[in-house]
Amino acid sequence: MCIKKCSVYLFLLATIHMCVSSKILVIFPVNARSHTSLGDSIVHTLLDAGHEVTYVSPFPMKSTNSRFRFIDIRSPTTEADKEKPHLNPVHLKNNPMPLHHILKVGSSHAQQALQHPALQELLQDRYEQFDLVLAEWFYSGLLAPLATVFDCPLVWYFSADVYWQVLQMVHEPSSPIYTAEQRAFSVPAVPFTPPERAYQLWLQLYLSGWIYYFTHYVEKPVYVEVYDRAMNIRGRMLPEYEPLVYNGSLLLINSYPPLGQSMPLPQNVKYIGGHHIDNPIKTLPKDLERVMENARNGVIFFSMGSNVKSKDFPETIKQQLVDVFRQLDQTVIWKFEEKIDDIPRNLHILEWAPQLSILCHPNTKVMITHGELLSLIEATYCGVPIIAIPLFGDQFFNIDLTVARGAGIRVDFTEELPRKIFEAIHEISTNQSYRHNAESASTIFKSRPTPVNTELLHWLRLVIDTRGAAHLRSPVQKLTVTERYCLDLLVSLLLLLWFLSKVVKLIKVYLKSTDMDSDSGKKEQ
Ligand SMILES: *[C@@H]1O[C@H](CO)[C@@H](O)[C@H](O)[C@H]1NC(C)=O
Ligand SMILES: *[C@@H]1O[C@H](CO)[C@@H](O)[C@H](O)[C@H]1NC(C)=O
Repeated sequence: MCIKKCSVYLFLLATIHMCVSSKILVIFPVNARSHTSLGDSIVHTLLDAGHEVTYVSPFPMKSTNSRFRFIDIRSPTTEADKEKPHLNPVHLKNNPMPLHHILKVGSSHAQQALQHPALQELLQDRYEQFDLVLAEWFYSGLLAPLATVFDCPLVWYFSADVYWQVLQMVHEPSSPIYTAEQRAFSVPAVPFTPPERAYQLWLQLYLSGWIYYFTHYVEKPVYVEVYDRAMNIRGRMLPEYEPLVYNGSLLLINSYPPLGQSMPLPQNVKYIGGHHIDNPIKTLPKDLERVMENARNGVIFFSMGSNVKSKDFPETIKQQLVDVFRQLDQTVIWKFEEKIDDIPRNLHILEWAPQLSILCHPNTKVMITHGELLSLIEATYCGVPIIAIPLFGDQFFNIDLTVARGAGIRVDFTEELPRKIFEAIHEISTNQSYRHNAESASTIFKSRPTPVNTELLHWLRLVIDTRGAAHLRSPVQKLTVTERYCLDLLVSLLLLLWFLSKVVKLIKVYLKSTDMDSDSGKKEQ
């Protein structure tokens, strides 16, 4: 009896294992902790679900799991370091990077990863096989051919909110008539005014030109260099580059609707924002918990994330900020890497801060941040209003959308920063609507039909099982640019109009000449 039962169980277990476990290659090429921490979280989710994971990243991740293999692509310097501006108000004002600079940063991250000997070794091993490639999309399509080499579907992961450029990887650019460029310095409200529409259209055209240039003249030679051998070893020819770039099966977006811009999406774009949040949230270290419990007037949490270091702050602004905090009733917890002399009693400096646990503590009243999406997701999850000092990338975009939702205040990095921060703290602590709006966003953010990681696993499984989930793909992918924008029909229409105008002209000339003929005929009579 037991033998029968047990063997049934064993059989079930074996089949479950067989259909659940897949070999997945996960690659996060960006040399910034805020990116790879998201990759780490995805990898943990995949391992917990029984998958076999090969993880390529510049930040070593430890795991004793026997189904885990790490490929270290650390290298001494990267373009990412160059993107970081100095926190000098004058410099920030006068020296914004041109928008297309990010394409250079993006391809150089991908290129560095692909040229790394450790990844090349994986590519050159003809017996290496995967069921799925999950790659972080960072302003470059160079990682897409990994799926071609391993002859399996490709899933893109984007660490920010969805916008036109990432959307076109699996669909088409979203309309500049109602969606904004993510890396510009402000986001207008819908409906855009005619100048705003013209500006958004211009940005899209300008960047599309650069994307074309990068794809064909910067990335294509790299593509040949890093993939040719891997394909030849497998007895295949290197295909055209561009079709591979736009052949992702699924796009995962690290955001959720109350955070980003509202956008109609195709079936193969999925929101998984918040996937990195552990539930339940970790408890605070004892000493920090005591500080937070004793904060009778609430806590202000100030963190500029892991990319901006205290040494980047100008000395005067640092001192003025300490003076601002001195005047407050609230307790201030500042994540900062250096000791400050003569700090007020209500200010606590932490070199490292358990951000999520602090944010979700009921005493936390407001977070001061740079407005990176990861911090916004965590503040939104915990229902905390924010004051943001956007510095670069998508931070202006994120904070403008938060301001539009009434859940935060934007303070630009100028000489006035400390005074503006003081005013913003005063505004948020006296006007309850910020807290209220942040709490409603939290309710929306948490209200989902399925836990986010269950959903994530579901879509990956579907893509693996159907070898690319062709049924979810956007039909737009089959169209050329000419067909997509009806350029052929437009040209035909113009030709037709031109032809008709010619005909009308000819008829007029003919009528005139017959008139003249009959006139002269009359005269002759
Ligand atoms: C695009 O992806 C699908 C699914 O992985 C695959 O079957 C197809 O061959 C790919 N197309 C190209 C041009 O590589
Ligand atoms: C409170 O803040 C909201 C924005 O979130 C604003 O619309 C409202 O006018 C403010 N109320 C007062 C009394 O200032």
